[in-house]
Amino acid sequence: MPSKMTWYTIIAAFWVAFLAILGVNLIGNTVMFGNPLHANVHPPEKPGFPIEVVEEAPAEAGAAAAERVSSVPLIAAATLDEGVAVFKKCGACHTAEAGGANKTGPNLHNIVGAEIGNHAGFKTTESLKAIGGTWTYERLDDYLENPKRLAPKGSMSFAGLKKPQERAAVIKFLMSVTENPPAVPTAAAEAPAAPAAN
Ligand code: HEC
Repeated sequence: MPSKMTWYTIIAAFWVAFLAILGVNLIGNTVMFGNPLHANVHPPEKPGFPIEVVEEAPAEAGAAAAERVSSVPLIAAATLDEGVAVFKKCGACHTAEAGGANKTGPNLHNIVGAEIGNHAGFKTTESLKAIGGTWTYERLDDYLENPKRLAPKGSMSFAGLKKPQERAAVIKFLMSVTENPPAVPTAAAEAPAAPAAN
C-alpha cells in the first residue's frame, strides 16, 4: 500500500505532466496560429501542417471477382519451358504423361477440354464435379488462380497461381500433354466468367 507521501508524489507528478502538456500546446499553437491568448490578431490562413483527406472509394461487393485478370490472352505467347517450370508446383500431386498414376490429385493427361472431375480411377469431390461442363481455357484459368473459388469444397489444397503469366504458362504445358487441345479462344470468342454452357 503506497504511503500518504507516495500519493502526494504521484498526484504532483500528474500535475507536472498536465502542465507540461498544456505548456507545449500553448507554445505549439503560438508557433502555428499566433498567440492563442490573442486569437484573432492574425488568424492563420492555413494551418501549419497539411491535412490530407483520403477519399476512399466504397468497396463494391464482388468487384474483385468481376475484375479478375484472365491469363487466356497470354497463352499464345507463353513458352513450354516456362510451363514445365511452373508445373513443378503441381508435380507433387499430379502426373501429366499418358497413363501416369493418380497421386493426391488425378493424372492430368488430356485435361484441356476434358469433362471436369471425371478422371478414371480418381475419387473426385462433389464440389469439383458441381462445376459441370468441360475444362475450357477460362475455367482452367479461373480454377488455377484459386481452386476454392470454383470448387469451394474441392480437395485441391493449392493456394493458386496468382500471376496470370504463370497460369498461361502452365496451361500451355497442359496443352502439350493433351492430344487434341481445343483452339485457344480469342478475346471475343469466349467471354470471361461465361456460365457453364457445355
Ligand atoms: C497439394 C496437391 C495439389 C497440388 C499442388 C495441385 N493440385 Fe491439382 N488437384 C489436386 C487434387 C486433390 C485434385 C482433385 C480436386 C477435387 O476432387 O476436388 C486436383 C484437381 C486438379 C484439376 C481438375 C482435374 C479434374 O479431374 O477435373 C486440375 C486441372 C488440376 N488439379 C491442375 C493442377 C495444376 C495445373 C497444378 C499446379 C499449378 C495443381 N493442380 C496443383 C491436388 C493438387
